[in-house]
Amino acid sequence: MTVATNKCIEQRRALHNDLRIALPPANLSFDQDEEWCVVCMNGEWREIRLHDYDELFAVPGLYERLLSDILKCDSPARIRELLEAELVAGGQQASALRVLDLGAGNGMVGEELAEMGVKFIVGVDIIEAAAEATQRDRPGIYADYHIVNMTQLKQNDRCELVECRFNCLTCVAALGFGDIPTEAFANAYNLIEPGGWIAFNIKADFLHPSDDTGFARFIRSIIADKTLEISNTQHYQHRIGTNHQPIQYVAIVGNKRRDVSEDMLP
Ligand SMILES: C[S@@+](CC[C@H](N)C(=O)[O-])C[C@H]1O[C@@H](n2cnc3c(N)ncnc32)[C@H](O)[C@@H]1O
Repeated sequence: MTVATNKCIEQRRALHNDLRIALPPANLSFDQDEEWCVVCMNGEWREIRLHDYDELFAVPGLYERLLSDILKCDSPARIRELLEAELVAGGQQASALRVLDLGAGNGMVGEELAEMGVKFIVGVDIIEAAAEATQRDRPGIYADYHIVNMTQLKQNDRCELVECRFNCLTCVAALGFGDIPTEAFANAYNLIEPGGWIAFNIKADFLHPSDDTGFARFIRSIIADKTLEISNTQHYQHRIGTNHQPIQYVAIVGNKRRDVSEDMLP
């Protein structure tokens, strides 16, 4: 990482500590995409939903303070550890990875990958605020950052992304909940070269047979027909909710064997 990037990280950490944030009473429970907090900005308390990413990303350090420090989210580090362990086991170098980071947000996954030694990372996200926050807080981590809707990828965006010859897809804390649907994940998956690494996490409930988001059927079918060959999975606590209860996710790392076909989509 560059000196400029390290300086940004230090500035962000200093900002974290100044932010005043309060959570709702722990005896109130909300769906994960309805959770909220209140943040004191310029002397006024404002309510922000945790899934209103553009509002969170607009305030330097807020996403990190809230998600990493208070709600103990360690998913970017967890996915990095799992991917790194598989690379080491296979005698592969992180520096050889060409990563597409889907739902890159303000760059926390990119930062982990860069620390691991990855030299080429391209971020994609659906909101401009994510790219702006990444540029503000983690300049130089991503070789490029595209604002795209992966569900309806335009031809010129597709061409630019294909030219990157990605051999790794990361997607952390971004599947389901009105964020990234199965089609968007499949479109990103199909941009990865055969043999490439796929590293992502998903809420454990979304893999349960009773799931109605479409992810359980989709993930099961790409594993069953070896479109995705799993090398490691881990059930773990993604973070706690605003009610202090653990939120369980599954981290999955494997290798792409072939493209997802349309009939595999729900
Ligand atoms: C919880 S954030 C996770 C950010 C980052 N991966 C991390 O782990 O810190 C989810 C991100 O997914 C993005 N997102 C939601 N729907 C998307 C879509 N259809 N295509 C690309 N990004 C999307 C959101 O804008 C947001 O930045």
